[in-house]
Amino acid sequence: MVGNLATTTPDFSLEDIPGTSGRIDILCRCINSAFVLSHGIRRDVDAYLILRGGGAAKTIHLRGRDLRHLNPDERTTAALLKKALALEAESRWTKSTPGIFVRAGDLADLSIFRGGTTYYLREDGSDHRGLPLARDGTFVLGDHIGLSEADEAILAGLGAEIVSVGPKSLHADHCIVLINNELDRREVPSHPAGGRERRTNGDE
Ligand SMILES: C[S@@+](CC[C@H](N)C(=O)[O-])C[C@H]1O[C@@H](n2cnc3c(N)ncnc32)[C@H](O)[C@@H]1O
Repeated sequence: MVGNLATTTPDFSLEDIPGTSGRIDILCRCINSAFVLSHGIRRDVDAYLILRGGGAAKTIHLRGRDLRHLNPDERTTAALLKKALALEAESRWTKSTPGIFVRAGDLADLSIFRGGTTYYLREDGSDHRGLPLARDGTFVLGDHIGLSEADEAILAGLGAEIVSVGPKSLHADHCIVLINNELDRREVPSHPAGGRERRTNGDE
């Protein structure tokens, strides 16, 4: 998930997240959609947030298998990101809170693309319903600005498949709900409430 304007510093207000953080609220909603179930957390999901709003870019990794303190509300999620942004971001990952790590780096520096299929979610892509989506795939989304030509060139170089979740331009967090739902439906439920075990891409 790329946050083109998302601040790389912790000095934003939890009282006005959209107005002071370069739209970290969008990233918070994406985190909610990626992880939060009615009664739990999707432990088999990893999310990588690219924050570019000031100075060198930072990446925050949320790792479902050991993620703690995540609640459905945006304020709590933003507070977790704030903590991660208060740490010194180096070239290696630094742990912030359980399941949350931060490092310096941008989209091009992510090692998760080395394995599995990469999907670039874009309105004019191929309909995801007709595609054999890999359970261990990596899905890349833009924010309210979208991805730049340079980002698209990186994804093209990785052989990313361009995938659409429908004919209308949606909010990024809604796209994540649709992809999770599609993957849920393709999996044989392990118990009456469903659930799935997908390989994670964690590299810490
Ligand atoms: C609000 S949209 C971005 C709109 C932005 N104005 C643009 O032109 O890129 C946020 C992100 O959600 C994803 N997205 C939105 N609608 C989609 C769709 N129908 N299919 C696939 N991805 C979609 C894309 O990754 C997009 O960058």
